[in-house]
Amino acid sequence: MGGGMSFPVVRLPRERVVIVTGGNAGIGYETSKWIAMMGAKVIIACRSEERATEAIERMNTEFQEEKSKGRTDIVDYDQLCVEYMHVDLASLKSTKQFIDAFIATGQPLHVLICNAGIAFVPKTYTEDGYELMFQVNYLSHFLMAAHFLPLMKSSCDDCRIVSVSSVGEKMATFDMETIQAKSTVKFGRINYYGRSKLYQIMQMYSMARRLEGSNVTIASLHPGAVDTEIVHNFDDWRFLQTLTSCVRSTGALRSPFEGAKTSINAAVNPVLRGVSGVYYMDTKPATPSGTARNKNNQEKLWQYTLECLKDWLEADIVSCLEGES
Ligand SMILES: NC(=O)c1ccc[n+]([C@@H]2O[C@H](COP(=O)([O-])OP(=O)(O)OC[C@H]3O[C@@H](n4cnc5c(N)ncnc54)[C@H](OP(=O)(O)O)[C@@H]3O)[C@@H](O)[C@H]2O)c1
Repeated sequence: MGGGMSFPVVRLPRERVVIVTGGNAGIGYETSKWIAMMGAKVIIACRSEERATEAIERMNTEFQEEKSKGRTDIVDYDQLCVEYMHVDLASLKSTKQFIDAFIATGQPLHVLICNAGIAFVPKTYTEDGYELMFQVNYLSHFLMAAHFLPLMKSSCDDCRIVSVSSVGEKMATFDMETIQAKSTVKFGRINYYGRSKLYQIMQMYSMARRLEGSNVTIASLHPGAVDTEIVHNFDDWRFLQTLTSCVRSTGALRSPFEGAKTSINAAVNPVLRGVSGVYYMDTKPATPSGTARNKNNQEKLWQYTLECLKDWLEADIVSCLEGES
């Protein structure tokens, strides 16, 4: 695979079902395509049907190109097994509708890749009253993981949740008083993006503790600095746009394929079966900030999150989440 980091191209059965949020673009696109080229069924959970449909067509075109190179390590299906389902992570109602619609299909779920994300957006609140990056990057993915857990617990003995975080978590502070930015004098876009990514890692540790001994593992990761559409989020911010252009011109940004390697590895590498609570960079275990690793903070965030989602989590879901069933 080159670039000093890699993932094994394994053969996955068509019955292995993988959800990738934001699978229509950037890192999620490459993650979805490669996992599908290994044989699995991939559901790309996206907010735009048009963009998702176009992405699936492009994945199939690129799949045919890979096949025509005579590759024997990918599947020889006529078409990749990739499907679109609608979700808008900025809405808990939409997220719950997606969860219900997926569960209603009666399929198992083996891998959930919480990939979709936005970065450095101006201070905005969702219809649910939460800061936008908090909800899209963290809270809605938490809701998904919670509701899919009972299904994953009964799906097979190697189920995985993979949370695409960011090294940006190191720029974040953990402060329950300002978690929704409502009382802060100044809203720092970088800080609040970092916070949402910090929470994903903290959730990983809290969930891994509760899932210990089960068939479901949870990992989180930093994909590297990747040249994707995420830069559109700061179209209104000239300083960051200029900085990104400069960094791009030095060739320091990774391609989306390079950026997807750590996610793909966490999702498919057989060696990682049963390995939980690990944060990865460049496909290798890495150490996140001390703030992320602080157990007291993790538990405070866990309780706060359950409170945020109390109208969306039934008692049996909470009980499963707490490792009681
Ligand atoms: N690029 C980097 O350098 C970098 C570095 C560290 C971490 N990350 C993380 O990597 C992940 C993927 O980012 P990327 O760089 O691949 O960015 P991207 O190309 O902008 O892709 C982001 C994906 O998230 C989707 N999305 C955004 N808001 C959504 C919503 N409300 N509901 C559902 N889907 C939504 C986007 O859908 P649309 O196409 O509809 O917008 C898109 O599919 C993010 O979690 C990001 O924080 C990226």
